[in-house]
Amino acid sequence: MSLKEIAREVRQNAYAPYSGFKVGAAIRAGSGAVFAGVNVENVAYPEGTCAEAGAIAAMIAAGETRIDEVYVVADSPTPVPPCGGCRQKLAEFSRGEVPVTLATISGAEHRTTVSDLLPGAFGPGHMEGL
Ligand code: THU
Repeated sequence: MSLKEIAREVRQNAYAPYSGFKVGAAIRAGSGAVFAGVNVENVAYPEGTCAEAGAIAAMIAAGETRIDEVYVVADSPTPVPPCGGCRQKLAEFSRGEVPVTLATISGAEHRTTVSDLLPGAFGPGHMEGL
């Protein structure tokens, strides 16, 4: 299955009873393996986690640290951009040129990159030598 198909399928399992806004994410890691995530909300609202964060957590748990491609899909009129925290999370494990596709379930797609989403990102390289 493609990243698109996986993100669309997993989105159906999102747990978003408070916003009603289900999001699915799929990331292709360095080995070629694909990891998926959904948003998981909580009655204590700030404790919710985004779909991208779930996919990244699954990737790290599997022992991978490099993202090569990202696909995010939501049921919205236009493709939904990732929140600031997820932009930083994606940057941690990507290179700037890594492609990110933001999509709607009706099929609209906006193609961007990690560096377009977070120019001048603070990255692990800034911590070298400390
Ligand atoms: N959300 C994501 O999971 N990813 C995004 O890129 C944007 C927003 C979630 C967070 C929250 O559960 C719901 O969408 C509404 O903000």
